[in-house]
Amino acid sequence: MCGIVGYIGHREAFPIVIKGLQRLEYRGYDSAGIALYDGNQINLSKTKGKVEDLKNKAKEISQAGSIGIGHTRWATHGVPNDVNSHPHYSNSGNLVIIHNGIIENYEAIKQELTKRGYTFQSDTDTEVLINLIEEVKKTEDVKLGKAVQIALNQVVGAYAIAVFDKEKPDEIVVAKLGSPLAIGIGEGEFFIASDASPFIEFTNNAVYLEDEEMAIIRLGKEIKLRKIKDDAVAYPRILELQMNLEEIEKGGYDHFMLKEIYEQPRAIKDTYRGRLLADQGLIRMAGIDLNMEKFLNANRIIIVACGTSWHAGLVAEYIFEDLARIPVEVEYASEFRYRNPVITDKDVLIAISQSGETADTLAAIKLAKEKGAFVFGVCNVVGSSIARETDAGAYTHAGPEIGVASTKAFTTQITVLTLMALKLAKAKGSFSETKYREYLSELETIPNKVEKSLESNALIEIIADVYKESTNCLYLGRGYNFPVALEGALKLKEISYIHAEGYPAAEMKHGPIALIDEQMPVFVIATKKGHYEKVVSNIQEIKSRKGKIIAIVTEGDEQVKDLADHVIEVPETLESLTPLLTTIPLQLLSYHIAVMRGCNVDQPRNLAKSVTVE
Ligand code: G6P
Repeated sequence: MCGIVGYIGHREAFPIVIKGLQRLEYRGYDSAGIALYDGNQINLSKTKGKVEDLKNKAKEISQAGSIGIGHTRWATHGVPNDVNSHPHYSNSGNLVIIHNGIIENYEAIKQELTKRGYTFQSDTDTEVLINLIEEVKKTEDVKLGKAVQIALNQVVGAYAIAVFDKEKPDEIVVAKLGSPLAIGIGEGEFFIASDASPFIEFTNNAVYLEDEEMAIIRLGKEIKLRKIKDDAVAYPRILELQMNLEEIEKGGYDHFMLKEIYEQPRAIKDTYRGRLLADQGLIRMAGIDLNMEKFLNANRIIIVACGTSWHAGLVAEYIFEDLARIPVEVEYASEFRYRNPVITDKDVLIAISQSGETADTLAAIKLAKEKGAFVFGVCNVVGSSIARETDAGAYTHAGPEIGVASTKAFTTQITVLTLMALKLAKAKGSFSETKYREYLSELETIPNKVEKSLESNALIEIIADVYKESTNCLYLGRGYNFPVALEGALKLKEISYIHAEGYPAAEMKHGPIALIDEQMPVFVIATKKGHYEKVVSNIQEIKSRKGKIIAIVTEGDEQVKDLADHVIEVPETLESLTPLLTTIPLQLLSYHIAVMRGCNVDQPRNLAKSVTVE
């Protein structure tokens, strides 16, 4: 995780690096640091805390200079404190580094360097790496770029690094393996960042390094790319970015999370725009069309993902099996990759990831590819590692998601996966043309229905106020809405730090029912379509144990209203599309509870948006 930013050019580096770090804080925010070169010396400032704290602390140093690197950290090795924050100096003080990733064999290297007289201020793996680079530079008598390359061939782990050498002050050396690194190319200036958001107002041209590539970024020169392993020349592919500044700003909302919740009607529309042609009875998805045989001949589909994306995968399991009649297994990427799974070339693996950078998901993809499976990616971030690593894919087009708690990524993932399932169902003939057409037209109504669901916001705020001091909550749902219950509980845990559990409603009697008393709020998804009567029975069971019931129901529902303490209505839709609506009130509930508890909604403690370490 962690975010890295760098600048080399003709402007003052300080404001660019600081602003860039603020945009990357979603990647980690326990400490931050900056190093600037003023033409004479390196001025470095770092601190525990957020980039705002760094801005204050950096008043103690000279902020001059048009070369700078900065870092916002999510601690892996060493507690978050000033000393462990990046950038890190080498022992001579000539080299300085920022690093996103983990050097796994740092302990052995550290011992060796200690024997050679090196000392270490911090507990980090990164300080070991910069001293290894210094040692190589000295003993092999090579320039910075070569030293970085030789050193990286000795380390095991993951990294996106930027290294500056006071003795070679017209360049920054960057390298990537496993963690993302983008280079923005401006007029006589270069930007380095974990994603393009820090430089989007300066340039639309970017090069994304591939794994095992490094670049020497030199003022007044073209970027030179090399393969770290064998020094082969690699050719940069300059992409034109579509992102704009507005998309990565709060636009009048108090938090990114709220903005992203409210963006869902538009985001869902963007996801199916150009793909869903309801009047023609068509779904256009090139990634599926070109690989239709692979899907139709698949023994099964395996879905791998983490976090919220895994919940979208669970919804997809219901949709694919229900509509397309293809067997589906959904796996946590982190479990899948380490459990020696049986995979054959008759399997299709779908990897779901908002960021497209999640280390475990990426590793699961590589494993499946090695075993011959066809791998399809569902990602939001265009050009991300997962998007590049997969054989084919479909973007969600949700636009940048910055709040750490995922919202619009979830609903747009479900939208893409629904389109895929419908397309496969049609190709397989697994349901009637009438039913198929009904799905297509209903899908087109979803953005308006999400809009309608958002209208409950004021009521949800009142409910949030009632339950904001709870210490435990249960979330129950059945069928398509079981994963929504899991997602609702995850949202609450993530941002309000209230313990919450999601359960299939019927499983309640196998354990969680023991927890129910008058203090326990139970959020139940009880839409008309989807085992309604069964869920009503579950609600009765909670009521008879005096639990507090907050039910998400279909508009006009009377039965649950009589039983529940609070009801929140969502419009009626087809059963398989209900998750797109029922998840909205649960997102808003978590949001308001977190705000009322004074939590940092967009940057919850200990979390990061993009988990590039396993
Ligand atoms: C982190 C984020 C979650 C996200 C998960 C998977 O835990 O905080 O919001 O769901 O990673 O991320 P991905 O980018 O692969 O969807």
